[in-house]
Amino acid sequence: MRILSGIQPSGRLHVGNYFGMMEPSIELQDQGEAFYFIADYHSLTTVHDPNQLRENVRDVAIDFLACGLNPDKAVFFKQSDVPEVTELSWLLSTVTPMGFLNRCHSFKDKTDRGIEASHGLFAYPVLMASDILIYDSSIVPVGDDQKQHLEVTRDIAVKFNNLYGDVFIIPEPKIRKEKAKVPGTDGQKMSKSYGNIIEIFGSEKPIRKKIMSIVTDSTPVEDPKDPSQSVIIDLFDLVGSDSEVEKMKSDFLSGGFGYGDFKKRLFEAFWDYFQPMREKRNELSENLDYVDSILKKGAEKARNAANRTLTRARKACGIE
Ligand code: ADP
Ligand code: TRP
Repeated sequence: MRILSGIQPSGRLHVGNYFGMMEPSIELQDQGEAFYFIADYHSLTTVHDPNQLRENVRDVAIDFLACGLNPDKAVFFKQSDVPEVTELSWLLSTVTPMGFLNRCHSFKDKTDRGIEASHGLFAYPVLMASDILIYDSSIVPVGDDQKQHLEVTRDIAVKFNNLYGDVFIIPEPKIRKEKAKVPGTDGQKMSKSYGNIIEIFGSEKPIRKKIMSIVTDSTPVEDPKDPSQSVIIDLFDLVGSDSEVEKMKSDFLSGGFGYGDFKKRLFEAFWDYFQPMREKRNELSENLDYVDSILKKGAEKARNAANRTLTRARKACGIE
């Protein structure tokens, strides 16, 4: 069983990325043949500074390894080291009805936020389908917001298979019931484009400040507070122990504690939770040749797998 996922190197990774995509991918690396990649072709739709892109790719590589991606178990590579994926993307685009892409909300979401409405941004779900189909992937762990792209991938694969025979495996998304939509400091979905993120590996002071800035209502310190409507509780649930979470919920209900106090507890739990990964990250940052060598080795394996599928697809549609 092939498991595959990708993450864009378009900024610093945050707690939403971790719980929505990285942690489930890391858990799955023991259960099948895992392929994880850094989606740099995709990031070209939003990042137009070449040095920034190179730096982001390296940062994501270090972050993912620090968080527990095990290169002895998972094949870890950079998307653009397998350029075959762009050829398959073209083959797929010739069978993709415009309607599949018109219905994707991510294009509208991104252009509404000021990102240029380029053809690449519009056609992005086809490249994502190619990412998935070229590795014969069965399972794709992602956060909730990628669900629609997985539906499009499946629809494109079925369309191609109906036309040309059974070329592609139809993949299944794997989206967690909990943790798939981590809220940001303003209560909306945490996203780098909303300016509401808590970075996994930010420095202590700015992270503390970020957590202390979480938006709350103005219930006075002495009054009871509603734990079911609180971003603080939702985030604490991710990083606190069960008993700490229970205690915070009962302190919400009893009154006598201010939001500032709860935010301090959240910061402490957050800092402890990511401490081992922070240490691993520091080690890896001193060892960049090692990081680069992992991506290089991963790319070789990925390329072999991609070539097999691409040849199948080329033959099926009459290119060879
Ligand atoms: P962003 O919204 O910050 O641009 P990306 O779109 O690059 O994040 O997402 C990378 C991965 O992380 C995807 O699998 C996505 O579903 C997941 N992800 C992003 N934000 C969240 C969130 N707030 N909660 C859960 N998963 C998320
Ligand atoms: N679109 C995904 C995101 O923005 C990244 C991605 C690209 C991806 N190709 C993929 C995820 C293939 C899973 C599978 O987060």
